[in-house]
Amino acid sequence: MPKAKRKPLTTNVQQSFDLQGYLARQTATVNKALAGFLPKPTTKPATIHKAMHYSLFAGGKRMRPALCLAASAACGGDESEAMPLACAVECIHTYSLIHDDLPAMDNDDYRRGKLTNHKVFGEGIAILAGDALLTQAFEIAAQARAWPRYSHKTIFLEVARASGSLQLIAGQVADVEAEGKKISTNELKYIHERKTSALLCCSARLGGMSANCTAQQLKALTDFGYNVGLAFQIIDDILDVTQTSEQLGKTAGKDTAAQKATYPSLIGLEKSRKIAKQLTDRAFASLKVFKGKAVALEALAEYLLKRNK
Ligand code: IPE
Ligand code: IPE
Ligand code: MG
Ligand code: MG
Ligand code: MG
Repeated sequence: MPKAKRKPLTTNVQQSFDLQGYLARQTATVNKALAGFLPKPTTKPATIHKAMHYSLFAGGKRMRPALCLAASAACGGDESEAMPLACAVECIHTYSLIHDDLPAMDNDDYRRGKLTNHKVFGEGIAILAGDALLTQAFEIAAQARAWPRYSHKTIFLEVARASGSLQLIAGQVADVEAEGKKISTNELKYIHERKTSALLCCSARLGGMSANCTAQQLKALTDFGYNVGLAFQIIDDILDVTQTSEQLGKTAGKDTAAQKATYPSLIGLEKSRKIAKQLTDRAFASLKVFKGKAVALEALAEYLLKRNK
């Protein structure tokens, strides 16, 4: 990753851009689209469709769809053309959370302010609901428009690689294997790049692809997504030790209890905050090529750094 010039964060982004309004609007549109793509909860076999709906509509922040839609907008794309891909990444994300919470993994009882999927439906159905959401993501992605530059094959490979055993799964494997061990910051970065940054980066790239972006724009979105993604997991680890369970909608303090390798445990809270800020600065710097058209992406990056849930 080339070293970007350090530039202080723009502080007036949120004054000029109504991010709360933007997110509320995008969330409503994404939720409506997701409901349209998924079989109804009453569709036979109802148990699996109920379980899929339960976690998908439990109230996630919808950050990956937001990144996808904002990336498309930065490239002058049409929101309706980015929507299937925005929904596909949210399905993959939700599947990864259902499996992440299983007793065999992080063993969590709460997610998105509600009982976890396996607590409500049992482990068997929770595993299947995750499997079904992962598969559903590809079915939804098939609805996306292909361009000469970005064929359906390119789009499918993008989604498959970000979620596969070299990226998201690789990160989850390394995360589980690092429990109770003292690992280096390099090894921790390897985990964060894969378990979290890969899908956030993929979300931004897919938004660009849906807008038939140029190679230069795709490179900018890749750098942006990579850095925002790394910052995202560092903040997630910080929030685990600084916020309450009520605030997070998931059990706080779990990382310490499970002896997870995290930035706060490795280098302390202050240094962790500094690194998250540096990564966000780098993400900002990569947006220059959009010449002021990436306002939503800028506002999102700032929000992701300052978020408290
Ligand atoms: C939580 O992701 C899991 C991580 C990769 C850190 P989010 O914080 O985006 O979770 P939701 O979607 O808002 O529930
Ligand atoms: C989750 O990381 C990453 C994926 C699900 C791919 P965490 O285990 O830190 O996420 P939370 O804290 O449970 O949301
Ligand atoms: Mg985990
Ligand atoms: Mg977890
Ligand atoms: Mg966490």
